[in-house]
Amino acid sequence: MLNFILNKEVVRTEERPGMVLLEFIRDVKCLSGTKEACREGECGACTVLVGRRRADGSVSYKACASCLLPIGDVDGCHVVTVEGLSGPELTLVQRLIVENSASQCGFCTPGIVLSLTGFCLCAEKLSFEAAVDALDGNICRCTGYAAVRGAARALCERLSAAPSSPEKRLPELIAGGVVPEYFRDIPARLAGLEAAPSAAGKDAVIVAGGTDLFVQKPEQLLDGELCFLSKRSDLDYIREDGGVLRVGGAVTIEDFRLSAPVRKHFPALEKDLLLHSSAILRNKATLAGNIVNASPIADAAIILLALDARLVIEGGGKKREAPLSKFFLGYRKTGLACGELVCEIVIPLLPRGARYNFEKVSNRTTLDIAAVNTALRLTAGPDGVISDLRVSAGGVAPVPLLLDLGAFKGRRPDAETAKAAAAASEAAVKPIDDIRGSAEYKKLLLGRLVEAHFNGEAA
Ligand SMILES: Cc1cc2nc3c(=O)[nH]c(=O)nc-3n(C[C@H](O)[C@H](O)[C@H](O)COP(=O)(O)OP(=O)(O)OC[C@H]3O[C@@H](n4cnc5c(N)ncnc54)[C@H](O)[C@@H]3O)c2cc1C
Ligand code: FES
Ligand code: FES
Repeated sequence: MLNFILNKEVVRTEERPGMVLLEFIRDVKCLSGTKEACREGECGACTVLVGRRRADGSVSYKACASCLLPIGDVDGCHVVTVEGLSGPELTLVQRLIVENSASQCGFCTPGIVLSLTGFCLCAEKLSFEAAVDALDGNICRCTGYAAVRGAARALCERLSAAPSSPEKRLPELIAGGVVPEYFRDIPARLAGLEAAPSAAGKDAVIVAGGTDLFVQKPEQLLDGELCFLSKRSDLDYIREDGGVLRVGGAVTIEDFRLSAPVRKHFPALEKDLLLHSSAILRNKATLAGNIVNASPIADAAIILLALDARLVIEGGGKKREAPLSKFFLGYRKTGLACGELVCEIVIPLLPRGARYNFEKVSNRTTLDIAAVNTALRLTAGPDGVISDLRVSAGGVAPVPLLLDLGAFKGRRPDAETAKAAAAASEAAVKPIDDIRGSAEYKKLLLGRLVEAHFNGEAA
């Protein structure tokens, strides 16, 4: 039995945990405000809010694509659809959409309303830039984005006096008509809900964000035994520990991207990880899922390879540690045995004299996987010569690849070295022709991106 609150109503359901929330909302609950289009996380029409209890009892709301979200994952949560925002009057977001003529056919509008409402509830800073980032997964095919941005800008102006901390913002958002009054009681109502523990059998499929799984095999998962990592609050942490960051296996890309330790030690990642999918997916997708999925173009895997990350793997009551560089064994094959779980990712802080950079080329800037992506960690000694060089490359091999550029140690990281490293990188890979580009294009692209690592402004 799954228990959650859908808008105002407590839902107790025997539906299978692998049923996607979009189907439950539309077909079981007959709430048709949430729209169905791509069913692959690509359009944002199905966006809903998922509110999860924080350790302090308050509720953290995130906008998510309901087409890739199994209902087992919202057990114990508050799910909000556009019907849950309805009252006698339009909400502030809805009003500003009307005033700015930001809706034409209206198909995308519920998703946009939910993404902007989620932004009001969870963004650390209610800035226009952050509002636009929050909308990066919502596609509109007829209004035009200028009007939608106009509504977002007006929203940020109206909320400029709201408290900066999302945990303290709810009373102002209720008073300002952003969310209805009943949101005030949700923390207490969620505290009284019983959430079932997740399946833990050896054969249970581990569902982290589900953003790969529910694109790849939704039918199989419907009847499968599923282990939801969102229920493993013990795996939801990011902490600095000596010379490393320790990131739990359930941490989402968005929480990682915006976390204080990442901002402090790897400030460029805040922008770099905006290139991973879109906010409604990053709010669910995890770093560990990106690694275990073992796609040759996985952005987080490429970044973490260059950063010399290690994995802590749990299974059979034991833990072992493995370098990420040895984890990928072949196309979509990893060193994970049946029943094992990546419980932690260990990321060494940048050594003295080191810098990091990430480059990605895809057909569109956001919501697109890479044709080629690559990251660099370059360490120079006090004499200015390279003492360590790690360059990863995606889209050019069956696995996320760490290039062997050891021969460049001892050289100055100047334009001549950049050109030589680019040539060496091109020579080291054998990409294949596919939908994202020809083998020749990808080889050349990798060379240009490696050169850009040396020449660009790297953090
Ligand atoms: C529209 C769209 C756009 C996308 N854009 C990008 C992009 O730009 N860049 C990119 O890199 N990816 C992209 N992806 C792919 C996907 O979002 C990422 O790979 C994501 O990080 C996967 O994480 P997840 O938590 O959702 O994984 P899940 O789907 O939950 O799991 C993926 C696999 O890993 C296993 N698994 C998950 N966590 C663990 C764990 N801790 N231990 C052991 N096994 C585990 C699961 O069993 C499953 O086999 C996109 C996907 C979609 C649908
Ligand atoms: S239906 Fe397109 S993102 Fe869900
Ligand atoms: S208003 Fe028609 S798709 Fe956005």
